[in-house]
Amino acid sequence: MPGHAETLRRTGGREVKSIVFESETIAARVGELGQAITRSYPDGDLLVLGLLKGSFIFVSDLVRKIERPLQVDFLVASSYGRGTMSTGDVRLLYDPETRLEGKHILIVEDIVDSGNTLRRLLALLSERKPGSLAICALLDKVEKHEAFAELKFVGFDAPQAFLVGYGLDHAEDFRHLPFIADLM
Ligand code: IMP
Ligand code: MG
Repeated sequence: MPGHAETLRRTGGREVKSIVFESETIAARVGELGQAITRSYPDGDLLVLGLLKGSFIFVSDLVRKIERPLQVDFLVASSYGRGTMSTGDVRLLYDPETRLEGKHILIVEDIVDSGNTLRRLLALLSERKPGSLAICALLDKVEKHEAFAELKFVGFDAPQAFLVGYGLDHAEDFRHLPFIADLM
């Protein structure tokens, strides 16, 4: 567990309110998610599709805990500018060239807030006739959205706070923190 001085060194002096998930806690949960995903999928092609940039650390840890053949690709669906509010306007910035038809697609997302990003993305991806379409999110702000069936794997319920670290950013800062912290 990092001390206060170490945290400030990493953030360049910016105070975080509190550490919400320690790196050890995250690692243990990612291991469990990997096992659950390993058990859930029947034979067939599994494509793990990470949403950049927020999922880059989560994807790299998660795929190493999935004990079956799979492929990895990424796409960018951006809904936030420099602020911390969702606009509901989802832009798909990169389309993977990988064929999705007939494959099991597991979308990996850092955090679900309003659910708008994922809802738009699911609509776009389902047009490509995947064999199955499911989501694994590290964090879920459960109170902010209605349930959706595709959200099959969730690491943690997230508090109503703005979280940074382990891939999550605020204006592109803090993605590199090994823990998840409450910024304000
Ligand atoms: P949604 O479309 O409202 O569900 O927003 C989801 C996206 O917003 C995530 O992929 C994140 O990039 C971003 N986001 C939502 N909440 C947070 C947060 O607490 N910290 C950092 N990014 C967040
Ligand atoms: Mg994101």
